Amino acid sequence: MIPDVDNDSIVYLNGQYVRLGDAKISVLDRGFIFGDGIYDVVPAYKGKPFRMEGHLARLERSLAAIGIVSDMTRDGWRTLVLDMIARSGLGDCMVYIQVTRGVAKRDHGFPKNIEPTVFCMVSPFERPDADKREKGLSAVGIPDIRWLHCEIKSVSLLGNVLAKQRATEAGVDDVLQFRDGFLSEGSSCNIWVVRDGVLLAPPRDNLILEGIRYGLMEEMAAEAGVGFEARAISEAEVDTADEIMLTSATKEVLPITHYNGKPVGNGVPGPVYVALRAGYDKAIAEL
Ligand SMILES: Cc1ncc(COP(=O)(O)O)c(C=O)c1O
Repeated sequence: MIPDVDNDSIVYLNGQYVRLGDAKISVLDRGFIFGDGIYDVVPAYKGKPFRMEGHLARLERSLAAIGIVSDMTRDGWRTLVLDMIARSGLGDCMVYIQVTRGVAKRDHGFPKNIEPTVFCMVSPFERPDADKREKGLSAVGIPDIRWLHCEIKSVSLLGNVLAKQRATEAGVDDVLQFRDGFLSEGSSCNIWVVRDGVLLAPPRDNLILEGIRYGLMEEMAAEAGVGFEARAISEAEVDTADEIMLTSATKEVLPITHYNGKPVGNGVPGPVYVALRAGYDKAIAEL
């Protein structure tokens, strides 16, 4: 019995549908041995996937980036996501897809002629509650100790796990990571800064995972008449930001109202957050 999950829920593993509690992979799976794999997470509302094509395109980019060749087509991934949502019977849910290089003798180099391991599960999605939306979150700044290919949605998440633990130990919700004095991202989310009414984000490069909400934030900012700039953001600019917010599939868009123990702006969600939050809710409602 795995605690805190629905052991009877049905997961997909290499073409089979099995109970989560019964699903097993080999101890020589390279995902387990080396963290040699990638994943993506597609949110769904009332059973309808949100921005699925963006998530599937990123899944394919991650596979290509690490040289995993899967015979799944875009149509195949799409059918898997829709089928898994339907089987789960859930309304608001998260579809998790993981692909590893497969099972082979332990040897660092890519093995020849192995099949990737493909796993998919659906979990209930508890949307951020009113308290988080209205009061906001807290965060502390830490150095970014991760590797230089954060644009790949790799299952090698040790750096992200340690970052999140830093937040837990500091008694805050998340961290803002800095590399060479410039903002990268949160432990599992993108970070946004507002200065003088302009929405700023770190550039889309190898130092961050470009969230599927990155493009959406840009679109929503344009619709709300808020200026947007993707550029390096210094620690000093974050310290004196008017607003800070984060985005991810599970957190949607949430304000960070306390940073390094001090209020951000007035310590309450700011006007740019309020406008973008309304845009996000509208995008969900229009699904
Ligand atoms: C490191 C990292 N950055 C950013 C994101 C945000 O990506 P998305 O908006 O696609 O959920 C995630 C999401 O899991 C993440 O793990």
